[in-house]
Amino acid sequence: MGVDSVQWNLEQWAEGYEWLEEGDEWSRWWGDTDAMWLAVLQPRIAPFVPTGTVLEIAPGFGRWTHYLKDLADRLVVVDLAPRCIEHCRERFAGSAHLEYHVNDGTSLAMVADDSVDLAFSMDSLVHADATVLERYLEQLATKLGPDGVGFFHHSNLGAYARDLARARRRSGRARARLVARGRLPHPQAFRDPGMSAERFADLCDRFGLACIGQETISWSGGAMMTDALSLFTRTGSRWDRPNRRLANPGFVDEAERMRSLWSASSFDHDGDTTDPTR
Ligand SMILES: C[S@@+](CC[C@H](N)C(=O)[O-])C[C@H]1O[C@@H](n2cnc3c(N)ncnc32)[C@H](O)[C@@H]1O
Repeated sequence: MGVDSVQWNLEQWAEGYEWLEEGDEWSRWWGDTDAMWLAVLQPRIAPFVPTGTVLEIAPGFGRWTHYLKDLADRLVVVDLAPRCIEHCRERFAGSAHLEYHVNDGTSLAMVADDSVDLAFSMDSLVHADATVLERYLEQLATKLGPDGVGFFHHSNLGAYARDLARARRRSGRARARLVARGRLPHPQAFRDPGMSAERFADLCDRFGLACIGQETISWSGGAMMTDALSLFTRTGSRWDRPNRRLANPGFVDEAERMRSLWSASSFDHDGDTTDPTR
């Protein structure tokens, strides 16, 4: 993945992937999608919702759209894969306050200036390179409303350039052990190697946005903090404050704990009592 990340993403998600479970398969390490929403996303965006207009970038088959739709007066979803937008259109046909757009992987031209209260992207832009994030942030500087906020999940692999080079030189069990212990990043985790939390904050700064919170996290398949959850807002908004950075290497362990709690306490929506962790 590199400067052509838009093309890679289009091939992967519009053609290459089967989408058999609408993306719910990526929530299993937390128990299921409800568990991941409740444990990961709801607490982190709670101060900003419910709200007026939410923009979701890269919804895929609507794994988070399903929850966001109940937290917004209007929800605009934008994805580069036509197939994903078609699926969301069908899946959420009963919700009249949703708007759907296919884009070219960078454009937000369909979104009015000063209109977005919350811009949200989860488990998608980790695969995007810095150019894509740069383009989105540049536009959000004018698309966000005066008190608008953004919550983006993106790659932090760029913080580990030297470790990544070491990981690429190794293979087999020795590498797997070092990855599991958080000593090396997973070299095939599809995180963009040029993006990092620091670079994200610099980009915000460049476009007159304020980066107000960043959590670096580990992700399934490794204990190194290859990912970041970044919060940003318009400079001078009611949310503006000096950036708070938090390193959360225990994210993977939290998932494991949630998964075991969830298997004991949750019920499947269809009344199926099968253990969701199996
Ligand atoms: C791994 S899927 C995740 C979908 C959803 N966020 C979820 O968590 O289930 C990645 C999605 O991001 C979209 N995507 C990737 N890069 C994008 C970009 N630059 N702009 C818009 N959509 C993008 C893909 O088309 C795909 O739908």
